[in-house]
Amino acid sequence: MNKLALYCRAGFEKEVAAEISERAAEQGVFGFANLRENSGYVIFECYQAGEADKLARELRLDTLIFVRQMLVVGDLLQNLPENDRISPIMAKYQQLSLQNSCDVVVDTPDTNEAKELLTFCRKFTVPLRNASRKMGWLKEKISSKNSIILHILFVRAGCCYVGYAYNENSSPFLMGIPRLKFPVDAPSRSTLKLEEAILTFLPKAEEAKRLNDQMVAVDLGACPGGWTYQLVKRGLFVYAVDHGKMAASLHETGRIEHCEEDGFKFQPPKRKQIDWLVCDMVEQPMRITKLMAKWLVNGWCRETIFNLKLPMKKRYQEVKLCLVSIGDELTKQGFWFKVQAKHLYHDREEITVHIVILGQK
Ligand SMILES: C[S@@+](CC[C@H](N)C(=O)[O-])C[C@H]1O[C@@H](n2cnc3c(N)ncnc32)[C@H](O)[C@@H]1O
Repeated sequence: MNKLALYCRAGFEKEVAAEISERAAEQGVFGFANLRENSGYVIFECYQAGEADKLARELRLDTLIFVRQMLVVGDLLQNLPENDRISPIMAKYQQLSLQNSCDVVVDTPDTNEAKELLTFCRKFTVPLRNASRKMGWLKEKISSKNSIILHILFVRAGCCYVGYAYNENSSPFLMGIPRLKFPVDAPSRSTLKLEEAILTFLPKAEEAKRLNDQMVAVDLGACPGGWTYQLVKRGLFVYAVDHGKMAASLHETGRIEHCEEDGFKFQPPKRKQIDWLVCDMVEQPMRITKLMAKWLVNGWCRETIFNLKLPMKKRYQEVKLCLVSIGDELTKQGFWFKVQAKHLYHDREEITVHIVILGQK
């Protein structure tokens, strides 16, 4: 098994291919990416033996922007016999040392065509798990960080990649997608973007310390208030900046001030320490990047989550330009910081970026 299967939103396979080729090369690993447009996954075949495994261990999934899930896989298994799909899969696993496996996951890429197989995947997991136990596998605890997950990716009926993922470097969610429930009282569906961003970027154990009722946030491009809703729900006071209309339910909380101003000109009210800046304005990505850099460099906020709307072409290159630009600016000004960027499930033609300032020279 010397390939990586990398899941993404359908239509972003080229971005994944560019990203994995570049990031693998940084680790001294070379290979080539095989992709079919709109398939929702990319196969990256490594040239040297053992290198897909090295990448699955060492290349952190949370540093890959366009990748939702990462597995080590072998060649595609085709035409699995309907009366015994399990034996060919088990035969593949028998070639590996599976001492430290903990679970079995069966899923599909995120396309309408593949998702039709999900019911089958769910049902198929049970006999596969039983067969694996019979072989003496799955002895590790699911919570064990060093364990591996046996992972089968069905791309069509009777057609799958057999592989595995490292527990501590893979998405815990089926298909790499967190299932979030839309809160009925939220003013817009965009609310799920910020909710997923918080889930993705902040460790759960730190959430209450990093987002609480002692804190103040600014939301640029706030209307009708889906992002503000997430912040108010966590107790923050929010300056909601937008010429549009904010949902009445948010005014009623007494935890917002609606500032009908231009987000590019707005500055934090005097003597107010702003903890968080969030921004969902639809604008050119570099313009947003420069605005975020201005807020961080001026010390107007310590932590930010913002969206970068992607151009039609060269999306990976544009994202990199923006991230390099803000990183260079913060470094030049003597800041230590952490940047994370992800194409979230609830993002369409955009990615979400999180930056936290850790200190200054
Ligand atoms: C995608 S919507 C934001 C949705 C919001 N995050 C939510 O969850 O409900 C973008 C918003 O940005 C606002 N906007 C665009 N340019 C702006 C600017 N220069 N200043 C302030 N708001 C702006 C628009 O009026 C629009 O309401």
